[in-house]
Amino acid sequence: MDAAVTFLQQFAAEHPGSGDPRRRIAEVAAEIGRHGTYTHTPEELAFGARVAWRNSARCIGRLYWNNLTVRDMRHVEDPDTIAAQCFEHLRLATNGGRIRPVITVFAPDRPGRPGPTLLGEQLVRYADDPRTAHRVALARELGWKGGETPFEVLPLLVQPGSGRPEFYEIPEDAVLEVPLSHPRHPGFAALGLRWYAVPAVCDMPLEIGGVLYPAAPFNGWYMGTEIGSRNLADTDRYDLLPTVAALFGLDTANDRTLWRDRALVELNLAVLHSYEQAGVTIADHHTESTRFLSHVERESRHGRPVPTDWSWIVPPLSGSATAVFHRYYDPPDPDLRPAFLHRTPTCPLGGFPGAAGQ
Ligand code: ARG
Repeated sequence: MDAAVTFLQQFAAEHPGSGDPRRRIAEVAAEIGRHGTYTHTPEELAFGARVAWRNSARCIGRLYWNNLTVRDMRHVEDPDTIAAQCFEHLRLATNGGRIRPVITVFAPDRPGRPGPTLLGEQLVRYADDPRTAHRVALARELGWKGGETPFEVLPLLVQPGSGRPEFYEIPEDAVLEVPLSHPRHPGFAALGLRWYAVPAVCDMPLEIGGVLYPAAPFNGWYMGTEIGSRNLADTDRYDLLPTVAALFGLDTANDRTLWRDRALVELNLAVLHSYEQAGVTIADHHTESTRFLSHVERESRHGRPVPTDWSWIVPPLSGSATAVFHRYYDPPDPDLRPAFLHRTPTCPLGGFPGAAGQ
């Protein structure tokens, strides 16, 4: 009830035309008295989802928080329809390459009746990515036969509120992928690297006004460094810096030749170049840094803090060459709501202790 009141007051404060929140609060109190929970209006749901994005201290892309497309699928609980709506989410978000930020909100937790969840980190993930080992194992347990070739898209795993999880092969027309090439090195394409267009996070429950939506996949567009500096380069991911260094003939004899740094730049260049060539939205880290500082400025004009985790906002390439490096920010506040939460490590496939997450 406290969380509901705080949220409804915030909703009213940010919707000047909406009048005194007391009537709505009384209505919600009665509903909670009868059912132990309450139902958000579509406007409250959309506002809550957008503010959860605005509150995400680790996200550099928050300038566009108010442009999130919110798909209200709260009536959807059965696994087949959830899967179908996740595929539709991917198609809408992909939009032929002009990526749109989208969230799809499925049924909430209710007293004695947990909502469905999506197992795994994102709607689209590759089976040979070391981060997905758990989900691959579970998919195989459930009868999935794939996972033999590089960059194979994992099936979607839907855990209904009660009962066994189900797996669903993601239809090809729902997953846009970009083959990676380099603007100057003709041999790069032969490495056979690729990545997908839409990063749709599905392991972060959405909490609005005391109501928890455990399945609420959301996406923005990629910033190149997520792929070029982390997914393809981290030693516990695709670990490709040695491969790229060899291709470019870099001297890897000792650390001081900066071969890793040079390989990182070539790999990031390839990512940005390939997405652009394919007509798929991607941002470089310089542009996204500038946008983030515009966001901080605009929010301060509205008198709102911008909780920010410096270590996540500074890009993992050329940090000090981007504007976001050179200052401090309002500290993250773990109690701030609405929010996308981190699933607890004990939950199935919800990450691992101290997970660096997305
Ligand atoms: N870093 C994650 C990945 O590389 C995606 C997290 C969300 N990213 C985004 N641009 N919305 O897959």
